[in-house]
Amino acid sequence: MEAKNISEKVEYLLSIMTLAEKIGQLNQTGTTMVSALPGIEADIDGWVSDMMEGRISQEEFSKRMELCREDLKTEQIENGGIGSFVNLYDDEKIFQVQQAAMKSRLKIPLFIGVDVIRGYRTIFPTPLAMSCSWDMDNYRRMIKIAKKEAKVCGVNWVFGPMLDIARDARWGRIVESPGEDPYLASRIAKTVVNAFQENDAYGRLLCTAKHFLAYGAVSGGQDYNTVDVSERTLYETYLPPFRAAVDAGVGSVMSAFHDLNGVPCTCSHSLLTDLLRGELHFQGFVVSDAEAVKQCVAHGVASDERDAAKMSLQAGNDIDMSSLDYSRFLPDLVDKGEVSVSSINEAVRRVLYAKFFFGIMDEPYRYDPGKISDTVLCRKHRIAAREVAEKSAVLLKNDGVLPIRDSVKHILVTGGLAEDRAALLGPWAFTGDKESVVTVTDGIRNNAPSGVTVEFCRGFDTSDSESGFEEMIKKAEKSDLVIAVVGESAFMSGEAASKVNLNLPGAQEKAMLQLAALSVPCIAVLVSGRPLTIGKLQNNPGIGAILETWHMGCESGNAMADLLFGKCNPSGKLTVTFANEAAQEPMYYNHPNTGKPGGKFKFTSKYQDAPVEPLYPFGYGLSYTAFAYSGMRVSKKKLELGDTLNCEICVRNTGLYAGEEIVQMYIRDVTASCARPVRELKRFCKIKLEPGEEKICSFALHASELGFYRQDCTYTVETGMFQIFIGPDSSKGEMLEIELCD
Ligand code: NOJ
Repeated sequence: MEAKNISEKVEYLLSIMTLAEKIGQLNQTGTTMVSALPGIEADIDGWVSDMMEGRISQEEFSKRMELCREDLKTEQIENGGIGSFVNLYDDEKIFQVQQAAMKSRLKIPLFIGVDVIRGYRTIFPTPLAMSCSWDMDNYRRMIKIAKKEAKVCGVNWVFGPMLDIARDARWGRIVESPGEDPYLASRIAKTVVNAFQENDAYGRLLCTAKHFLAYGAVSGGQDYNTVDVSERTLYETYLPPFRAAVDAGVGSVMSAFHDLNGVPCTCSHSLLTDLLRGELHFQGFVVSDAEAVKQCVAHGVASDERDAAKMSLQAGNDIDMSSLDYSRFLPDLVDKGEVSVSSINEAVRRVLYAKFFFGIMDEPYRYDPGKISDTVLCRKHRIAAREVAEKSAVLLKNDGVLPIRDSVKHILVTGGLAEDRAALLGPWAFTGDKESVVTVTDGIRNNAPSGVTVEFCRGFDTSDSESGFEEMIKKAEKSDLVIAVVGESAFMSGEAASKVNLNLPGAQEKAMLQLAALSVPCIAVLVSGRPLTIGKLQNNPGIGAILETWHMGCESGNAMADLLFGKCNPSGKLTVTFANEAAQEPMYYNHPNTGKPGGKFKFTSKYQDAPVEPLYPFGYGLSYTAFAYSGMRVSKKKLELGDTLNCEICVRNTGLYAGEEIVQMYIRDVTASCARPVRELKRFCKIKLEPGEEKICSFALHASELGFYRQDCTYTVETGMFQIFIGPDSSKGEMLEIELCD
């Protein structure tokens, strides 16, 4: 439908809507609409803590959430008082609420917004894991399946992609992020937005760029904490993926929880109106984060919730996610002349436009009971989940034990996480089902060559208990190979899951050191939401290999088995730096040089008790084969401002296996008016090479991409010397110098 056509319809609707109906469109509700359940106070936040701290089981938590949803009140929907739902993902309930909306005077369908972060029912790897594939086709494959499943179940709005650059592994939400690099994150943003929103066989699916802005920079890595970053850093590091999402036409943006340089994002006019709409030309609507409108009171900038509603709407925050403050206070605010009807109209206009544009008006609900069981978690989707997961794993260490050799006849799988379906599924997967997860033991057992026996012994888990060590060691001694699954459970990362200690939780490190002391080879399979400080495993010769698998989702065990047995060759590369110690966080590759770059002399920038280099740098990842880089060339040694620089390098597979390599191109502006990063990623490509095969990788970079934000925040290209690097990660590669001239 054409924009003009839609606008006419929107204006017509606006002209016949009552104020209450308009405010209803700005009111998003969810489980918080339930005040009390029989015998239990509805305290969802409290239940989450109870579950995470083991006071109630996951089953009990789900039961209570289910009861909440049972209690859905439809009168408010029928009165036009609700415009959208957050995280309603029970297909039948979605159907019911849309039916209620169809009984309302204007029959405006509801937005059903859900956190479709990593698939819908078929759960794929976490977003951080996905980013390690550096593979846009991989993303498209995942998104298309998520879109199909979500749409068939009635979901018409997804709260993703999460585009927060994350440089601090203490922050639990690093697991949801696209990593630490703005260029890679921007590529991901564009890919995800296009895949969700393009008009394909399933129509369009509205998506949300979140959380605007710089949520990843929370002080101390502590979730929801204050953020204080310079304008230059905002433009250079945190804004680019949002700019890319807006350029790709993202339909909605979610404002973030925190205060940015003193002003909560939810009620920041300079952020939501001046920057997002004024400068970035964002055309869609803004939704707050959950209950963030009322949190402006706790932030200390609104005197009460009425004030918070007024400030947020006036700042440009169109929809109130679950505070209910818009529906409670906007009528009176308009009545008293404190909020203008035109500002309400403006917000409603944006929301209605999206409802038309994304097909919700034409097709109130896509709920198709007949299709759900054939579609969700079908064989085809599971195969995709397995293959996508394989591309997300990163091989961190391998002294030759992997792929598993034919001589291995008896494998011991150990570590509680190997059997922990919820952990393998990982965080942000509540639309999935842990029963759909293939455990590590099952995966290895089902995919092992015939004649290989596989035994599981729990041995240890993420707790401090060492009671299983003795049995584990006895069994390990009788095996040809030990596969120890170590890392984090699902709730150790994600929202409200920040940590100051990034070591392997509980007694896991101790268990690993005991296993490493045996003469039997031992492999560590890491399951984690974030980079962990695993230097002791890296440096211990008794640990033959470390495979970072993150949280792979429903096909975990199968994907891991394919990687371990060499059915596929690991190709992922890190998109976040691994520090040696948590105290080094935030640690990231694209930092300025300082005046005293870390070295062997005393008065240099470093720590006394940890190496200045990371444990694993950004871009790092091994393969079962080896790649040699040679013959780097640039098209020009002197470049003019309107020119394009062409660079190329030859990459050869010098090993024994076919494999994929992610070739990375970085620049460094040697001298500029502001200190520039030691390296900045500018391009990358992924190539597949058979043993002995070589390919030329070429990159084209326009001179305008050599610029940066100066102190006054204007983007400028400065002439002078630049170093161009092409290599396998951010710490290696060949380098050539070029000069940019007027
Ligand atoms: C809070 C999270 O910050 C946000 O990412 C999510 O979309 C909403 N809750 C809804 O679940």
